[in-house]
Amino acid sequence: QQVNPFDYIIFGATGDLTMRKLLPAFYNKLRLGQIPEEARIIGTSRTDLDKAGYIERANEALERFIPDETKSPELIERFLKMLNYITLDGTKSDSDWAGLHTILAESPKDRIRVFYFATAPQLFGAISENLSKNDLITSHSRVVLEKPIGTNLDTANAINNGVGQFFPENQIYRIDHYIGKETVQNVLALRFANPIINAVWSSEYIESVQITAAETVGVEGRASYYDTSGALRDMIQNHLLQVLCFVAMEKPESLEADTVRNAKVAVLKALRPITDKNIASDTVRAQYTAGTVGGNNVPGYVDELGHTSNTETYAAVRAWVDTPRWKDVPFYIRTAKRSAEKVSEIVIQFRAEASTLFGKPPASNRLVIRIQPHEGLDLRLNVKNPALDTFTLRTAELDAPLLIEGQPFPDSYERLLLDAVRGNPILFIRRDEVESAWRWAEPILTGWSENKAPMETYSAGSHGPAKAEAMLASNGDKWHENM
Ligand code: BG6
Repeated sequence: QQVNPFDYIIFGATGDLTMRKLLPAFYNKLRLGQIPEEARIIGTSRTDLDKAGYIERANEALERFIPDETKSPELIERFLKMLNYITLDGTKSDSDWAGLHTILAESPKDRIRVFYFATAPQLFGAISENLSKNDLITSHSRVVLEKPIGTNLDTANAINNGVGQFFPENQIYRIDHYIGKETVQNVLALRFANPIINAVWSSEYIESVQITAAETVGVEGRASYYDTSGALRDMIQNHLLQVLCFVAMEKPESLEADTVRNAKVAVLKALRPITDKNIASDTVRAQYTAGTVGGNNVPGYVDELGHTSNTETYAAVRAWVDTPRWKDVPFYIRTAKRSAEKVSEIVIQFRAEASTLFGKPPASNRLVIRIQPHEGLDLRLNVKNPALDTFTLRTAELDAPLLIEGQPFPDSYERLLLDAVRGNPILFIRRDEVESAWRWAEPILTGWSENKAPMETYSAGSHGPAKAEAMLASNGDKWHENM
């Protein structure tokens, strides 16, 4: 359904995220009739451009990033009419705030106003301050914060305090595009709308959980960011811990945003701390060396950078959620650049059936939740082998696609962008979630910086370092591709 008219003000409007993700997502929502014609998107950045120049760039981005099936010249024209642009340095008080004021004053006073900060996070506080000083924050305003919120707990607090001085928490929408993925949201439906799943969702039946987000790409044009971040900060502290929360949370009493977020915080707080004692056995960090990905030879990480580096492009952790439900169930989390394939998935490995009625079953039950690509579910069952007159078992896979025929999956930003307009923060991260996630992740980063776990290597195009295989083998487990 259509949202109320809004003014979306994007800081960082000429950046890659805006061009690649945000504008195409808005376009698709307009196409689906969910955005009213009066809605406006006002780009701002330091780049000296006028409105026509920005529209030209936006047009090029749409040409490039919208799939052909949804491209329509008439619709693109309507979309471009929603755009405006103002050259503005959000961190400078003497920038053209009056210009932004004039544009916003064209809208009714009670128009929903969403400020989207797609800039470097250390600028968020200064931009918020300037918005406040220039009287641009109304009671109908919200602010969306892009990741990364900090590089550790202190810097996260500095960012949250900086923004929090000018926006109350209920107006702050911290985005994590993994929660925008339909397949991640679907974990809640799967668990809480299906008694046959819900009933077995505990350590009594589940032996281990794997959460993987692997990519074939390297660091592309983002080396200057990535080399200061690394895989743990870039993917695990935020995206993969959020996925873990969806898998591990207790059933929230309702779909009220804070009820769901309370349930997630409870999981994050129950994560067993990684300490100097177990960092070497329960974490693996690694960098890719030269190799072959998808038939192409690619250089190693340090060659790509042109200098030595202590940044991991692969991270794996054996995590434990210390609640009665998850007693003794390892959660193996991993992420990699330049991996063998692009795949994000959750693997729920069930315990073996103890009964020996048919002898040892060929395999235990396993549920694979394919976050992307081939979005869907795969459930492995033991069945009777029809080729034999004896009760001999074989395995069969139940494969349920989550895509509806003929309907493309919405991009992860689409719902999130409009949820901020709707004022529904259920899929956004509350401040205490960020803090709890950092409390768990930071000791790993500290330990790594003190060399408490060695930097491993893996060939580009492989599934990761041997040490990560060994970590699972010590529990008698294997990564999904080796099962
Ligand atoms: C981003 C990371 O948050 O997520 C990138 O900064 C990564 O490094 C991307 O490539 C992965 O997202 P997706 O949706 O392609 O899995």
